[in-house]
Amino acid sequence: MRDLNHPAGVEGATMTGLSPDSKEQGQRRGRGLLFCGDPHGRFDHIVRAAISWPDVPVILLGDLEPERPLIDLLEPVWERTWLIHGNHDTDAQSVAERVWDPAVLGRHLHGRVVELPDGLSIAGLGGVFRGGVWYPDPESPLRGQPRFDSRAACMRSTPRHQRWQGDVALRHWSSIHHDEWLALRGMRCDVLVLHEAPGYHPHGVPVLDELARDMGARLVVHGHHHDALDSSGRWAAQGFRSFGVGLRGVTWIDPDTGESQVVVAGEPEQSQAGR
Ligand SMILES: [Fe+2]
Repeated sequence: MRDLNHPAGVEGATMTGLSPDSKEQGQRRGRGLLFCGDPHGRFDHIVRAAISWPDVPVILLGDLEPERPLIDLLEPVWERTWLIHGNHDTDAQSVAERVWDPAVLGRHLHGRVVELPDGLSIAGLGGVFRGGVWYPDPESPLRGQPRFDSRAACMRSTPRHQRWQGDVALRHWSSIHHDEWLALRGMRCDVLVLHEAPGYHPHGVPVLDELARDMGARLVVHGHHHDALDSSGRWAAQGFRSFGVGLRGVTWIDPDTGESQVVVAGEPEQSQAGR
């Protein structure tokens, strides 16, 4: 049975992890970040939480499914909001048009590194692994190899009438493409946000651990599984701190110290777990 809430178990609890890097801590005592688990169409709790944490960046972990423009839904905190997409953000064209709205693209973290005002660098990899593009499991039919080496190759194999916005099919806008993962490996960041979970999770994917280590990420945070398992026993071996945030949960985490606090507990909605 998965723990649908935070390992600390109660709102307001804190948890301290690996010893902080004293050199970096001395340079920047960060204010931390607010990480928001799959909203699935609801944003009021995020706005409420973020207003009570002034100036703290707000990071959405995918499966947003906004029913109105994101800028309107998150207006009071939009100027400090960043996001990645999830697998359900391509379920409907109307949703995808809001998530990839040109007015929103500047807030996307997928496939790049952004330096936040306090100097913290954060990168993102949205979406999920799918066999139609790349399923990095040695037991899979392609033995973990990508079906397409690149998003462009996937697009070229897609009949024109099936492309969305002149690119891959809509569904594969939320698939993880091999070249996007590879490109990130050559970048550096302090924090990596994912929709899929890294290897510590029972349904996690070990190539995401490789990505985090190559990028030098000290903190990895993910959504998708609607849980927040305690992975602290794995942190030293895997080389980074890892956290999941539950369905519509909000967790504050300080990347420098590993200290965390559940601001909004994830909803215990088993029927949607792993969506
Ligand atoms: Fe998801």
